[in-house]
Amino acid sequence: MSRSRTTEVSRGKKQVSSDRQAKIAGLAVVVMAAGLGTRMRSKQAKVLHRVAGQAMVLYSVGLGLRVAGDRVAVVVGHQADLVREVIGQATSGKNGSSPVAIVEQRQQLGTGHAVLQSRPVFAVGKRGAPSCYLILNGDTPLLQESTVRKLLRVHEATRATVTVLTAVLDDASGYGRVVRAHSVERGVSRIVEDRDANAEERAIREINVGTYVVDGEFLFNALEKLDPSNAQGEYYLTDIIHLAVEQGRRVAALVLDNPDEGLGVNTRRQLAEAEQVVRQQIRDRWLDAGVTMIDPATTWIDATVTIGKDTVLYPNVTLEGVTVIGEDCVLRSATRLKNCIVGNGVEILDHCLFSDCHIEDDAHVGPFVHLRPGVVVRKKAKVGNFVEMKKTDLGEGSKANHLSYLGDAKIGKGVNIGAGTITCNYDGIRKSQTVIGDGVFLGSDTQLIAPVTVGAGAIIAAGTTVTEDVPADALVIARVPQVNRAGWAARRRALLADGGALPPGSKLTSLKADKVSSKSTQTNAKLSKGRLR
Ligand code: UD1
Ligand code: MG
Repeated sequence: MSRSRTTEVSRGKKQVSSDRQAKIAGLAVVVMAAGLGTRMRSKQAKVLHRVAGQAMVLYSVGLGLRVAGDRVAVVVGHQADLVREVIGQATSGKNGSSPVAIVEQRQQLGTGHAVLQSRPVFAVGKRGAPSCYLILNGDTPLLQESTVRKLLRVHEATRATVTVLTAVLDDASGYGRVVRAHSVERGVSRIVEDRDANAEERAIREINVGTYVVDGEFLFNALEKLDPSNAQGEYYLTDIIHLAVEQGRRVAALVLDNPDEGLGVNTRRQLAEAEQVVRQQIRDRWLDAGVTMIDPATTWIDATVTIGKDTVLYPNVTLEGVTVIGEDCVLRSATRLKNCIVGNGVEILDHCLFSDCHIEDDAHVGPFVHLRPGVVVRKKAKVGNFVEMKKTDLGEGSKANHLSYLGDAKIGKGVNIGAGTITCNYDGIRKSQTVIGDGVFLGSDTQLIAPVTVGAGAIIAAGTTVTEDVPADALVIARVPQVNRAGWAARRRALLADGGALPPGSKLTSLKADKVSSKSTQTNAKLSKGRLR
């Protein structure tokens, strides 16, 4: 991982990468993502439900892009605009254009009808029609790229017209069952949907995963022949298998080694199941890449996160969104980061919450720090112990170590932010900016009434409310002079011991400043007379 990093939190960064392994020439991918997802009992389209922080449909789209490059179409329908937006955001490059074609299925008439809608996408263009289609359900987030590549190899090796991915499950209920011929080869003869199956077919444990490779010249002709006379009145894509067999074409099948991969998410239970499996896959990937996790079971890492080597994650760390953690970092317990960029050698102590911010190399943050969007903590800076920051740039080597709120501020290098410092950035209507120059010393309990600028090298005395700009290298003090009343406390104690409660108008309440003397009062008096200026 590079040592030099951008200082901006990259927003809308391309999350679904398409450039790892070889693309397969002549291959096009169709992802079906138009369905209602009724069994989820949700207001949200099923394919937008997140698994490890990423919309389910993006798993299939990412897979498609990795194997077929830019020949990927997604069929959308239910909440089409939202699905289109999520795919666009995740797949768009720097120029804002996405390699994914979106087609709309206006009425959800079944998976066969869904795939048929993608025909115009591939019919046009100089490259000619694809020789082969990979068809993916939008609700199978556990499917691995290696499996898909193996399926494509089987398709090629067997010269099949249709190759289908299957799995053998203990509980096959809900899935389409794979009906095999009674012949010695036991070839696939058709797929029967759960709702259309008779008792004998329901007993079959081999299921259709919903991943198919189909020859280009066969696919759309077959789809046009589909008949919706079934329990759901839908055009089933799965019926193309029987059609191929009827035409004397070859149908091949690949049985999954790990049936977990074939999980189709139709219900919240299946969503929860998929979440557990994907989380484990992600943890294993980062463990294998050289990240230490003290307690993997409680370490939560989204699919879109990147972590550098020799970084140590303590229990209950949660990394979300497009978060990038550098090398040699330590993240202590119960810390959550969302869309953050963290440099190398950063230490984050317990109980922190950061979102949309950037922490540069060798910074120390925490414990109990809240960094809100737009924060940059520069190299070797320190933030800790109940500090909240928002839209603030804390300069290199600067420190804000105790009980502060820093909002809409630009803070230079080597600045000391004293305990309890507050940027008063909001006047009830507007937010205003505070600018603090390099090397400024802010004493404890400073309030900065924004907009305000403190020049480089200035010193703000503890307890000061800064209302006006401060010139460079100045001392600022704005406090009520101190009054010391000698013996007052002792006399009060005596009075209370004598009579119990203080009567109204008692002597003590009317005590005058008998003697006002102390070093600090004299200093304040001198300061206010301007002798130290
Ligand atoms: C489908 C298969 C079933 C297989 C299972 C694997 C069919 C007919 N059945 O059933 O054999 O075992 O997947 O998980 O294909 N969709 C559309 N438009 C539609 C209907 C669905 O785009 O009109 C999309 C959905 O958004 C989803 C995918 O197609 O991503 C599958 O639809 P779903 O309703 O989940 O099918 P299953 O009943 O799971
Ligand atoms: Mg399904």
